[in-house]
Amino acid sequence: MIYAHRGASKLAPENTMPAYDLASESGADGLEIDVQLTKDNIPVLIHDENVRRTTNGTGFVQDYTYDQLRLLDAGSWFSSKFSDCSIVTLDYFLRWFKNRSMQLNVELKTNVIHYNNIEAIVYDQLNYHQMLDRTVISSFNVASVEKITAIDSNVQTAFLTSIKRKHLPKYAYDHGASSLHVKYRMLDKALVKQCHHHRMPLRIYTVNRPSWMTKCFKLGCDGIFTDVPHEAVEQRDLF
Ligand code: G3P
Ligand code: CA
Repeated sequence: MIYAHRGASKLAPENTMPAYDLASESGADGLEIDVQLTKDNIPVLIHDENVRRTTNGTGFVQDYTYDQLRLLDAGSWFSSKFSDCSIVTLDYFLRWFKNRSMQLNVELKTNVIHYNNIEAIVYDQLNYHQMLDRTVISSFNVASVEKITAIDSNVQTAFLTSIKRKHLPKYAYDHGASSLHVKYRMLDKALVKQCHHHRMPLRIYTVNRPSWMTKCFKLGCDGIFTDVPHEAVEQRDLF
C-alpha cells in the first residue's frame, strides 16, 4: 500500500488540501495526515508544534484558537502559487476525504506536547464520520497508542519509531499497537519476518528513492509512506 506522506508533499505544501488533492489523483492507496490541537481543542492538520516553518506566523499551534490559526498563510513558504492555502481542521479534511475510497493514517503528534484528550477528540471525529474501518491511528508516543486502544480495542493503531530495539514488534504489541511504522533505515529481512510472525503489518517511512521503494516491495512490507506518490505508483507498476 502506498500512502502519500503529508499528501503529495513534494508537489504542494505538506498537510494542505492541494497536497491531498494531488495525492488522491496519484493512484496512491492512502493518505497520511499529522494532527495537533489548537487552544480551543480543535484538531488541525500541521506537522510541527510551532507554525513558524510552514506558515507566515510564529508561535505554537496550542496558543492559537482555530479562528486565529486559519488566517495564517500556509502555502507561500512552499511557493507563491499556494498563497491562499490555510491550515484545515480534521473535520474539514474528513468531510472531503470520506467520499474517496482511500485508506487514512492519522498521526497524533503527541511526542513533544501532550495535548489533553487529543486521542478521544480525534477518535470521536473519526467515529462520527464513519472512518474507523479504514483508518490507522499512529503515534511516536506509546501512551497515545495505549489510550486509543483503551477507547476502542478494534481500531487499527500503529507505534511509530526511528529507534531500533530488541523485539520491537512485541514491544509495539504489548503497548496495544496493531501495526508498526518505522524509519527506512531500520528495514531488514529480520524485521519483516518478526512482524509477520506477530501478524503485524509493517509500514516504512519516508520512502522517496526508487531503489528504496523496490527494496520495500521486494521484502514484502505492507506499506510505504512517500512524498512522491505518483512516482511510487509508477515504481510499483514496474515491479
Ligand atoms: O508516519 C510516518 C511519518 O509521517 C513519521 O514522521 O516526522 O514525517 O511525521 P514525520
Ligand atoms: Ca507524520
